[in-house]
Amino acid sequence: MTVRRCEERGCKDKDGNCLTNGTDGLPIQCVGPWVEDKYFFLEQYLNASREARRKFADEGNAVFIDLFAGPGKCIIKNEKREIDSGGIRALNRNEAPFNECFYFDISKANVLALKKRSDAKSTCHVRCGDSNVLVKELVEKLLKKRYRYHFAYIDPFGPDGLKFKSLAELARLGRMDMLIHFPIGAIKRNLNHWLRKEDTILDNFLGTHIWRERIQKVGRDKSYKVMVDTFKEQLRNIGYPEEGLKLAASDGSIDSELPTVPVKNTKDVNLYVLILASKNPLGQKIWSSIIKMSPNGQRDLF
Ligand SMILES: C[S@@+](CC[C@H](N)C(=O)[O-])C[C@H]1O[C@@H](n2cnc3c(N)ncnc32)[C@H](O)[C@@H]1O
Repeated sequence: MTVRRCEERGCKDKDGNCLTNGTDGLPIQCVGPWVEDKYFFLEQYLNASREARRKFADEGNAVFIDLFAGPGKCIIKNEKREIDSGGIRALNRNEAPFNECFYFDISKANVLALKKRSDAKSTCHVRCGDSNVLVKELVEKLLKKRYRYHFAYIDPFGPDGLKFKSLAELARLGRMDMLIHFPIGAIKRNLNHWLRKEDTILDNFLGTHIWRERIQKVGRDKSYKVMVDTFKEQLRNIGYPEEGLKLAASDGSIDSELPTVPVKNTKDVNLYVLILASKNPLGQKIWSSIIKMSPNGQRDLF
């Protein structure tokens, strides 16, 4: 029954969840198969960085933050598979596990579901609200504890969920790696609309207006590069040093020095790009190494 509904158009509720609950009776997010690429790279990074994280984890100092957590499970449209979300995958780590996990979501239904799905772990803090607001309080709290390692998974549906000022808040924490879903598909779809207005969702997402004059200068067909380069510049402005970002591009078509992973939908159209921001050159080195591996095991795909 669940799967039949998921094959229909418009099968999602207002929170992006399937109209029918998962097999555990809780809400479940309705997604396309490309979501697994995102999880692949998240898990690869968490695995590959475990030794670097271990000295913090052993002291109780490794912190995971998920600003757009969802209900904890997804169902792949047209397939009968229910899979764990990124946040639950981060939680279930055997080696160098995170000692504390903070999850935010704006949907009450998602928060209730995630609380139940992460119930066994007392180190999980799940809160309902706009993460752009909640992040300030969280950072104030985390700043009081010294010598900690933080990893933030930032996975909004589109640019409307995230404001760049939230990344700037997170960047106040010294050791802060961020894996960011950069929704290039949604940006390209809405670009003409946002170009005609001021102070738009895109201005808030990028945290600057400079993209407008850059697009006017180079043309809309270069919007991909303008967006990624502007974002990279913004990351440098909040303390992510050039030496951490300046490594070979994973996708020549972006023509940017910021290593990224393009995640495609089934029609092979770029939906979003994953960007790893680390203040530590080791973080970028690990990322550059793992993005050479594609989810189906081929090397040097990008
Ligand atoms: C792409 S889904 C998250 C998927 C999940 N991270 C995963 O790994 O499967 C985006 C989530 O962000 C939530 N959301 C949207 N706007 C938000 C906001 N301003 N603050 C917090 N959560 C928000 C939505 O309810 C949705 O659950």
